[in-house]
Amino acid sequence: MKLIKSLVIAAAISGLAVTGLLANDDLIKKGEKIFMNKNLGNCLACHAANGKNIDGPGSMGPKLQYLSAWPEEALYEKIYNPYTTNPISQMPAFGKNGWLSDSEIKAVVAYLKTIN
Ligand code: HEC
Repeated sequence: MKLIKSLVIAAAISGLAVTGLLANDDLIKKGEKIFMNKNLGNCLACHAANGKNIDGPGSMGPKLQYLSAWPEEALYEKIYNPYTTNPISQMPAFGKNGWLSDSEIKAVVAYLKTIN
């Protein structure tokens, strides 16, 4: 049982590391689409990024920049549940709320890593 547990944990961790290796154009494009699309991530509703201006009612979120310097785990966590690092964040918890799947979040992370 213990062995199975550690195997599962190892698989989960390597899954995250693999995003780094597989951060290819396709994954980045998929992430960009989720970021821009109103029915998917809709991140652009609150965040300007990569020369694109906010496409939504308010300017609630900061302009996203220098994200290439962030560790992938930190970006994943920010999207999964922003309240971990900021309990009064106005950003919704896309992962915890079930709005974006694990693989969708990983694609968004790959896209965010291109933002300088
Ligand atoms: C309803 C508005 C809203 C939406 C939609 C939203 N965010 Fe945010 N986001 C915020 C706010 C407000 C902050 C600043 C507070 C904080 O850090 O939690 C933030 C912070 C962030 C940060 C940290 C930026 C920094 O420089 O510290 C990242 C990364 C981020 N958001 C990514 C995303 C992604 C990716 C999506 C789409 C899946 C998204 N956000 C959707 C409001 C939003």
